[in-house]
Amino acid sequence: MARVVRLVQTGPMKIEPAQTKPVWVCACGLSKTFPICDGSHKTTAKQEQPGKLYHYDPSTLDVKRIEDDPMAEASGEAKG
Ligand code: FES
Repeated sequence: MARVVRLVQTGPMKIEPAQTKPVWVCACGLSKTFPICDGSHKTTAKQEQPGKLYHYDPSTLDVKRIEDDPMAEASGEAKG
């Protein structure tokens, strides 16, 4: 499973945690508070299948299109 994420920034984003608690960095690319996780990854975990490429609506997080992932084999992910 993989997803298409549109990023428009061209440089790094500085994070200076002001607390000693852990900071969760978004690795799914769907967070509305990117680069900090906001829990949006929970919408992907149950429905995404290996070998598929998912396109999400960035405002609703609804899946708009699913296709075979042309990079799945190269990344070691089996096609489903
Ligand atoms: S990992 Fe992306 S929202 Fe949590």
